[in-house]
Amino acid sequence: MGHPTRGSVDTLASVVWISGASSGIGEELARTVPDEGARVIGISRRAPRAVEHLAADLSDPASWRLVGASFDRELAAFQGGRVVFIHAAGTIEPLGFAGEVDNERYAANVMLNSAAPQVLGHLFLAAARHLAVDRHLVMITSGAARSVYAGWSSYGAGKAAIDQWVRDVGAEQDRRGGARVLAVAPGTVDTPMQALLRAVADDDFPQRQRFLDLHADRRLADPTEVARRIWRLLDGGLDNGSVVDLRQIDR
Ligand SMILES: NC(=O)c1ccc[n+]([C@@H]2O[C@H](COP(=O)([O-])OP(=O)(O)OC[C@H]3O[C@@H](n4cnc5c(N)ncnc54)[C@H](OP(=O)(O)O)[C@@H]3O)[C@@H](O)[C@H]2O)c1
Repeated sequence: MGHPTRGSVDTLASVVWISGASSGIGEELARTVPDEGARVIGISRRAPRAVEHLAADLSDPASWRLVGASFDRELAAFQGGRVVFIHAAGTIEPLGFAGEVDNERYAANVMLNSAAPQVLGHLFLAAARHLAVDRHLVMITSGAARSVYAGWSSYGAGKAAIDQWVRDVGAEQDRRGGARVLAVAPGTVDTPMQALLRAVADDDFPQRQRFLDLHADRRLADPTEVARRIWRLLDGGLDNGSVVDLRQIDR
């Protein structure tokens, strides 16, 4: 990884945006980018460790314009290998029941988990539309899109929104010969988000014990391995608009 030297040795470098690259799965995705010499831009509030930082609070719609401007700037005259945007930013907070948690934090969750992926995905596709190179848009989703978890209403709803967005937009891109669009549920992964789940009160998250057990039994997936498997999914074989669960695919 590293910054490209425009017009010289790195003119074929890919450019990769990863939201949520400051922690957990996003951080490991940033560390394991397979494209030699890729320019990697991490989008988050805290600075990522090893890649460029685009500082943005993605629960604030004003920040989406900054991200869109980055897509436009880098892709206007892009001549590299491929372009990738992985949206891994997400939050489980505020953990608790609708009607009981803080109003502002609930609204921020909805903006980050439901609205930001759709708008940022749209902005990426618009900026990359003129390109003939491989374009990949990957949304990190969750089994919570389909299963009921009391205490996660806006999180689960956000992931369900991502899944349907990916199905629809994948079908659109297929018609246009455009980007490859994919949603990946990573399984239960050993990240700070999981630590938050274990720390909350049972009353706000009645299934907490299940996550305590997964952790105690060492059944949480390793984020580095999860990141490598997500990268491998970009090599092909999945229909455009696929929504997949890493636990159910064998590569
Ligand atoms: N871990 C699991 O078991 C699991 C299971 C299913 C799905 N997922 C999904 O996987 C993705 C990554 O989760 P993780 O477990 O790696 O969580 P994590 O360690 O808590 O990381 C979350 C990332 O999202 C970013 N983020 C949170 N709020 C943000 C905001 N307002 N603006 C910009 N960035 C924000 C954080 O960056 P800053 O705090 O620096 O802003 C951080 O980089 C999420 O979409 C999550 O829903 C995780």
